Amino acid sequence: MRVAGRLIVEGGRPLTGRVYVSGAKNSAATLLPATTLTDEPCFLRHVPAISDTEVLLEILQELGFQTQARGQPEGPPGLGLEVDIRPPQQEVTPQVPYSLAKRLRASILFLGPLLARFRQARVALPGGCDIGSRPIDLHLKGLAAMGAEIQIEHGFVHGECQTLHGAEIYLDFPSVGATENIMMAACLAEGQTILHNPAKEPEIVDLATFLNSMGAQVRGAGTDTIRISGERNLHGAAHTVIPDRIEAGTWLLAAAATRGEVQVENVIAKHLEPVIAKMIETGALVEAREESIWVRGPERPRAVQVTTMPYPGFPTDLQPQFTAYLLRAVGTSVIHERVFENRFGHVDELKRLGASIKSDGRTAVVEGIVRLTGAPLVASDLRMGAALLIGALMAEGRSVLDGVEHLLRGYEQPVAKLAGLGAQVQLVETEGELPVPTSLA
Ligand code: UD1
Repeated sequence: MRVAGRLIVEGGRPLTGRVYVSGAKNSAATLLPATTLTDEPCFLRHVPAISDTEVLLEILQELGFQTQARGQPEGPPGLGLEVDIRPPQQEVTPQVPYSLAKRLRASILFLGPLLARFRQARVALPGGCDIGSRPIDLHLKGLAAMGAEIQIEHGFVHGECQTLHGAEIYLDFPSVGATENIMMAACLAEGQTILHNPAKEPEIVDLATFLNSMGAQVRGAGTDTIRISGERNLHGAAHTVIPDRIEAGTWLLAAAATRGEVQVENVIAKHLEPVIAKMIETGALVEAREESIWVRGPERPRAVQVTTMPYPGFPTDLQPQFTAYLLRAVGTSVIHERVFENRFGHVDELKRLGASIKSDGRTAVVEGIVRLTGAPLVASDLRMGAALLIGALMAEGRSVLDGVEHLLRGYEQPVAKLAGLGAQVQLVETEGELPVPTSLA
């Protein structure tokens, strides 16, 4: 179901309690395409129930796979879906149409596995994006080095090959998507592929774990070199998606930003080391426990410098939320964005809450202030939506956040989770303009 809507937020209250983190969006974005590498059934647990997952499942169905997703009848909000994927009974046309690709950039992650499995693939070029140009040249160079002939025509990437062969590939930048596409294709290529300077994100390791449980030979995921020995076939497998470190970081920051005290559950603290270190630098109390992280926010954070980097550096996907957290800091904070060329769309919207912030190219400067006040806001991408939500929770009085569909692309049941933390947040589904409600449920 596609929901457009707005959130009505009564801010200025500390978040308190426990919140459960769902499975990682960015793992699901590559694990679901990876299931096309086999003609046997696969089973995934803890798949996040978000709109990005819906699109991935629609793509699998379009390709002829049968998918069955079941939610969890009991438990805290965020337990996600159990998904069965069964291979097609009829011949597959390995094509991802524009109508689906334009709803999800990660649809390009079908290119590598479809090409390796069916010797050809047509994937519509993903749609535009509000955080930079996001080229796919590294994906295509890697697949071409393995023997694929790649052409771009009529808005589609078209790949073809007799066979794919192993290759030695050096990535100019450790692109997450390029690493995943090359890894998946290499599993069914002839011979060995050596990938230098790959991305090291935990989602890459999660993909390698799944591929290996399908019978692939992937070694070194999470390090500077990944070696993949191609196999003739992969078999079906079952896998549990890792917790979403970006969602976990979002709740940690929302808690600290509202001077709250929250236990974030179902997390792997190691995946959040740079975020935890930065939060401690601001004066937040953060304690990593076995499968949870406890946080208590400071009265006002200390100003800090933040620089985003590929993993294990500070994640770009938490930069907008961290920027929001720093709006009430004592002193001047400087945020450098090193992964994307244009990721300060949240800055102008945050100003509407009274924030003193400016950005120039890849740098933003925040002069911390004491008090933010609620305002109408519009999100135009996922993490900007999360940053504006944190800003609205910090601000005194009511904020109305439009563009909630962006938030729902990546956060499972955010309203129920926030309600569990004592926030006053109401989702109003919209078709066109709606008046602002006068009272909150
Ligand atoms: C993935 C994540 C996204 C996260 C990003 C960086 C998924 C589904 N999405 O996106 O949430 O923000 O990693 O951590 O996992 N680049 C090129 N050429 C390419 C590919 C990338 O120049 O062929 C550049 C991009 O323009 C960008 C940088 O590399 O500046 C990082 O992109 P990449 O790591 O590929 O991000 P995604 O895989 O798209």
